[in-house]
Amino acid sequence: MVPPAVAVLAAVATWLTIIAIGCADENSSWVGDFVAPNPYQNFCEQLVVPNGYDCAEHTIQTEDGYILALQRVASRYNHIRDASSHPILLQHGLFMGGDAWFLNVASQSLGFILADHGFDVWVGNVRGTRWSKGHISLSVRDKEFWDWSWEELALYDLAEMLRYINLVAGTKVFLVGHSQGTIMSLAALSYSHISSMVEAAALLCPISHLGHVSAPLVLRMVGMHLDQIVVAMGIHQLNFRSDVGVRLLDMICDGHIECDDLLTSLTGKNCCFNNSRVDFYLDYEPHPSSSKNLRHLFQMIRKGTFSKYDYGYLKNMKVYGKPKPPAFDLSLIPDSIPLWMAYGGQDSLADLTDFKLTLDELSSEPELLYLENYGHVDFIAGTDAKEDVYNRMIEFFASSRRSASA
Ligand SMILES: *[C@@H]1O[C@H](CO)[C@@H](O)[C@H](O)[C@H]1NC(C)=O
Ligand SMILES: *[C@@H]1O[C@H](CO)[C@@H](O)[C@H](O)[C@H]1NC(C)=O
Repeated sequence: MVPPAVAVLAAVATWLTIIAIGCADENSSWVGDFVAPNPYQNFCEQLVVPNGYDCAEHTIQTEDGYILALQRVASRYNHIRDASSHPILLQHGLFMGGDAWFLNVASQSLGFILADHGFDVWVGNVRGTRWSKGHISLSVRDKEFWDWSWEELALYDLAEMLRYINLVAGTKVFLVGHSQGTIMSLAALSYSHISSMVEAAALLCPISHLGHVSAPLVLRMVGMHLDQIVVAMGIHQLNFRSDVGVRLLDMICDGHIECDDLLTSLTGKNCCFNNSRVDFYLDYEPHPSSSKNLRHLFQMIRKGTFSKYDYGYLKNMKVYGKPKPPAFDLSLIPDSIPLWMAYGGQDSLADLTDFKLTLDELSSEPELLYLENYGHVDFIAGTDAKEDVYNRMIEFFASSRRSASA
């Protein structure tokens, strides 16, 4: 029997936690639902500076008007703007924020570890997360604010982050993604105006196809058409921290699934999860996302495609000029960009069959790291991830730098 807090954490650590439904009532307070550990402190002040690292807050604006926070982190021995350090952008997954890279003790968290190794670490936070809820004219209470899916996160948010870092650091960027962050990365890298800003990319739990997702709870939510239900209910913002979310979870489980162990039902069996840190994780995760994003992800699960959002025949004709949404073409990712991918044998979201499809479509051959015992969450929160995964990733970036300068 797993403690209820661990069950709640399922939402934290997975990108496909649809139980994160909330705010059917437009007036539900967005901020009120999310009690920050200290609402008066920013990301740097809460998570990074107390660990003795340098941290600076940056704000960027996407082409479609969203205002995003980016953090820049360096170790205290290697101050920000040290000319020798190479910029690296960390892109988190669904229902997470950039905080997800800093939630374990410093010696186990990728954000800190990269700073220790002298990287110029930049932390992305997509629209709708607690750190990036601004827009030039819309408020989080407007349904238009939530009118996006990972497609916009890739083509606007990620593109703008890279553009900004490129400008400030004056060089191409190393890119790291986890889960939905890999969907965004793969989609974005298939556009040359974005890939031209990237030096190399490391993807944790890479996803482009989702046709073979095996997580029972996710399949149940797809089967019950939760994405359509949510939209029919007029819910645009998915917010786990709400009464509606908790009631909905009851309904989804309802004796059908092993909901005792939600984390496993959602992500696969995680080998290396630290149960005694759950309360701390819950101070930060989960972050909100949009219902449209959920629909887009469910479309991928139903059809097995890696395509733009499907509006249905009529609107597709209007938006795309054809009946079906165009696919993202992975073969367009330049083979001059070294890719490194780590995937787990217990990951029921980034399934092995789907992963093979991704590999088949790429024109280059990524370096691969397979960990038989790893589930979806282990790659970001595993207590041994430094030894198992991050050291190898750092070696990959170091070698791609050497070959770039050779
Ligand atoms: C939302 O808030 C507005 C203004 O505070 C109020 O007039 C309206 O009745 C509220 N709507 C709901 C559904 O509670
Ligand atoms: C798990 O988290 C606790 C509380 O933060 C920490 O003291 C402990 O060292 C962690 N365990 C492992 C195996 O890393």
